[in-house]
Amino acid sequence: PAYEVPTGRRDSLVSNREEADNNLPGPDIPIPKLTSEFLSRGFTPEEMVVLLAGGHSIGKVRCIFIEPDATPMDPGYQASISKLCDGPNRDTGFVNMDEHNPNVIDSSYFANVLAKKMPLTVDRLLGLDSKTTPIIKNMLNKPNDFMPTFAKAMEKLSVLKVIAGKDGEIRKSCSEFNNPMPSTGGSVIRISSANPEDLEGLSSGGTQVAGIVSQGTKDPWHVKTLKAAGAAHPKKVTGRHPKLRGA
Ligand code: HEM
Repeated sequence: PAYEVPTGRRDSLVSNREEADNNLPGPDIPIPKLTSEFLSRGFTPEEMVVLLAGGHSIGKVRCIFIEPDATPMDPGYQASISKLCDGPNRDTGFVNMDEHNPNVIDSSYFANVLAKKMPLTVDRLLGLDSKTTPIIKNMLNKPNDFMPTFAKAMEKLSVLKVIAGKDGEIRKSCSEFNNPMPSTGGSVIRISSANPEDLEGLSSGGTQVAGIVSQGTKDPWHVKTLKAAGAAHPKKVTGRHPKLRGA
């Protein structure tokens, strides 16, 4: 589907892999918890369902994430997955989200969920939950409604916690801070040598920068660098630091 993506968004001056991991739902998250996570970010259960439906109508799942026994799976489907995931393939194999049309975003998700033919537990759970099952059945009966509803939900998702105005920065290279702090490696947190006033109150996922740094880091050096950045403008580090590349 086509949808509008507003421009003007900026990148954060803090990159915290641990915080990102902590905020990602697990592949077997219970549906009431998932629903409340989406609600807390302003999404209705319908929007949550269509986002998962569109997202999980394409792509692949690694076998390590698949738990056939966690919640019922169609026996024939389970047998076909076993061929791809059993034995040595457990660590390296993967299966398509949508067994018939894996490269096209379409409304096949709803039928697949109700038939218990989805690899991820979260998708099969969605077809069993008393609040989300009626939404899935409703979408199954109105296939033409799916694309516009999905597109609208994606537009809404695309403006969630966007950094704009003077916060953050427009990166010259999308995988790099413009002025990276030198890193000693090993830390899950990276910060830019930004103007400390810019860092004031800047949050990544709702947590203050100072909080993130003192909470998550296993490398006290980073705490020092942030304090140093707060005391005076740190010297700008020019060029790319190899440790920050592609992390
Ligand atoms: C909210 C609950 C969600 C959970 C628990 C979840 C979980 C997962 C997991 C475990 C994978 C497999 C990753 C791998 O094997 O490397 C995956 C793949 C994927 N997810 Fe989700 N996901 C969720 C929501 C979404 C949403 C909202 C979208 C998009 C709108 C989305 C889009 C995708 C796509 C496109 C893939 C395939 C990636 C690929 O082929 O490399 N997911 N998801």
